[in-house]
Amino acid sequence: MNPAPAPLKGKNILITGAARRIGRALALAVARAGGNVVIHHGHSPREADALQREIAALGPRAVVLQADLNEPDQAEALIARANEAMPLYALVNNAAIFENLNLAATNLDAWERHLRINLTAPFLLCKAFAAALPTGDPGRILNLLDWRALRPGADHLPYTISKAGLAALTRSLAIELAPRIIVNALALGAILPPSDGRAKRGILRSVPAGRWGELEEVEKAAIFLLSGPAYITGEIIHVDGGRHLI
Ligand SMILES: NC(=O)c1ccc[n+]([C@@H]2O[C@H](COP(=O)([O-])OP(=O)(O)OC[C@H]3O[C@@H](n4cnc5c(N)ncnc54)[C@H](OP(=O)(O)O)[C@@H]3O)[C@@H](O)[C@H]2O)c1
Repeated sequence: MNPAPAPLKGKNILITGAARRIGRALALAVARAGGNVVIHHGHSPREADALQREIAALGPRAVVLQADLNEPDQAEALIARANEAMPLYALVNNAAIFENLNLAATNLDAWERHLRINLTAPFLLCKAFAAALPTGDPGRILNLLDWRALRPGADHLPYTISKAGLAALTRSLAIELAPRIIVNALALGAILPPSDGRAKRGILRSVPAGRWGELEEVEKAAIFLLSGPAYITGEIIHVDGGRHLI
């Protein structure tokens, strides 16, 4: 039997918000693909430590770093701390907040919080990552978006606008950082219900695939964008069962 392919063998990848849920699945997928992981967390130290042990058992290296991405100084400093632990090949901007607020319910605090965590932090991380990457080394950035980023509706207003900004940042940086750093994004649909358990009722009526997505489907798309053709950049791949088409 052939050994499992390890397309990320020896590559060091920082994943924000990696301790739980989709970030955790991505971290384990990277490790199974041979990559070492910097596990960033905000408020989940126990989950992050457990994940570190799980990755170490698979073989690759993992380190845990805490930073509050609501604090721009901490976001900016995270890249230097990660590079000190292991020189980075890639950055995955996964951490985000997701609150169901329409225009009337969005106050300035909620607006600014969403922009700081979901857009300003990725901006600062991308900037520091690109500046620190040694001349001549290739690198990759993968941003986690939402199908709403390119199809804004009236719901989840500050979240949607932050992800729309991150979609624009993905495309701008793909130009600015080419050819050395490849910048792509995944726009997810219904993969995991929100952690507060409040999934919208009837959600599957607007999903052509007629089902929730599987973590494995997100993992496969992420590994493809982290290790696949370097001629693909500025791309936003929807993993949403066709929801953005409706
Ligand atoms: N779930 C879905 O079906 C779905 C659908 C569309 C798009 N997405 C996107 O996919 C990504 C992952 O989704 P998810 O549902 O797994 O996300 P999530 O559970 O809502 O959040 C991911 C992580 O973000 C981190 N985070 C939030 N605020 C932070 C802060 N101030 N400082 C540091 N970290 C912070 C948290 O880390 P700690 O726990 O360590 O604080 C959290 O575990 C997100 O970008 C999301 O927008 C998900």
